[in-house]
Amino acid sequence: MERRIITTEATTEDVVIETTLRPQCLNDYIGQEKIKSTLKIYIEAAKSRGEALDHVLFYGPPGLGKTTLSGIIANEMGTKMKVTSGPAIEKPGEMAAILNNLQEGDVLFVDEIHRLNRQVEEVLYPAMEDFAIDIMLGKDSTARSIRLELPRFTLVGATTRAGLLTAPLRDRFGVIQRLEFYTPQELRTIIMHSARVLGVEIDPEGALELARRSRGTPRLANRLLKRVRDFAQVKYEGAITKEVTDFALDIMDVDKLGLDQNDRNILLMIIEKFSGGPVGLDTLAAALGEDAGTLEDVYEPYLLMNGLINRTPRGRMATENAYRHLGLEMG
Ligand SMILES: Nc1ncnc2c1ncn2[C@@H]1O[C@H](COP(=O)(O)OP(=O)(O)OP(=O)(O)O)[C@@H](O)[C@H]1O
Ligand SMILES: [Mg+2]
Repeated sequence: MERRIITTEATTEDVVIETTLRPQCLNDYIGQEKIKSTLKIYIEAAKSRGEALDHVLFYGPPGLGKTTLSGIIANEMGTKMKVTSGPAIEKPGEMAAILNNLQEGDVLFVDEIHRLNRQVEEVLYPAMEDFAIDIMLGKDSTARSIRLELPRFTLVGATTRAGLLTAPLRDRFGVIQRLEFYTPQELRTIIMHSARVLGVEIDPEGALELARRSRGTPRLANRLLKRVRDFAQVKYEGAITKEVTDFALDIMDVDKLGLDQNDRNILLMIIEKFSGGPVGLDTLAAALGEDAGTLEDVYEPYLLMNGLINRTPRGRMATENAYRHLGLEMG
C-alpha cells in the first residue's frame, strides 16, 4: 500500500512540531482520563513516600501519547528521563551500562519494548525486581557472577503490540495502561491549543472538522493542522474554517471519517472479493499485498473502533456501516 498522509507513525516533519507541542505536565495532557487519574494517585503516593514510581507499561496504537506521558511522569516526579528503544539495544552489556548510569528516581523510557531481544530482556528482570544486575566475570570453570546494586528507578515501557510482550516482562510492571483513541471533542481541544502555539488562526467548526478526520490521534491532528494551514494561507487569507478544512482534506483524500484510500481498499476488498466476509486475516493481507501484522496493528484498530469491520472467530467481516460509508448496497 502507499505511504499515507494519515499514517499515525511519526514522520520527520512531526519531530519538529512535536517537540514544541508536547504537553509537559498532567494537567496540560488532554484526554485519557482513566490513565491520568491512575497516574496522579501513584505519583502522589510515591512522592509522599520519597520513593521511585512503580514500573509503568503503556500500550496502544501509534501517536496517542505514550512517549509524551513518559516525559510527564519524569517531570511530575521531578526527575530525569533517559530514552532508549527495543531495537536500539543489541547486547546485554549495553542495557547493563544504561541501567548503571541511572540516577536515583530516574525514568528509563524503553520505546517498542516488545522488540528487545531475549538476552537483553533478561537483564531487566532483576533490575526491575531487585534493582540489581548480575554480571558474569571470567569464563567456564572460573566463571562467577557478581551482583551490582542499582539506584531505584522507574522503567516506563511503551509498545504498540502488547501481545508480543513476554509474560515474565509484562508481570514486572506494577501499572499497565492502555491508551484509547481520542474523541473528536478532545482532539478539538488539542488542535485549538496547537493552533495557538503555532500562531494559526482557526475557528471552532474548523477545528472540530479537523478533529473528526484525525483518526482519534493527536499526532495526526497536529500534522493535518499544519497542512490545512498551508491551504488557508494560499487560498483563504490565513484563517482555518470548516470550509478550508473540508477543501484541504478532500484534496488530500482523507474522508469524513478520516479514512484514506488504503482503508477504503480494505473495506472494498472484504466486500467485493470476499462477499463481505468472514475472511481470515492472512488471506485478507495476502489479497491486499500487505503484512498481516501491519494490517492488524495499524489499519484494523481504527476500522474496528468506527464499527466498520467486525472480528469474528472465522475472520473479518464488513459491517452495515461499512457498506453505508462506501455508498454500497448490502448484498
Ligand atoms: N493528550 C495529549 N494532549 C496533547 N497533545 C498530545 C497528547 N497526546 C499526544 N499529543 C501530541 O501528539 C504527539 C505524539 O504523541 P507521542 O509521541 O507521545 O505518541 P506515542 O504514543 O509515543 O507514539 P509512538 O507509538 O509512535 O511512539 C505529541 O508530540 C503531542 O504533540
Ligand atoms: Mg512514542
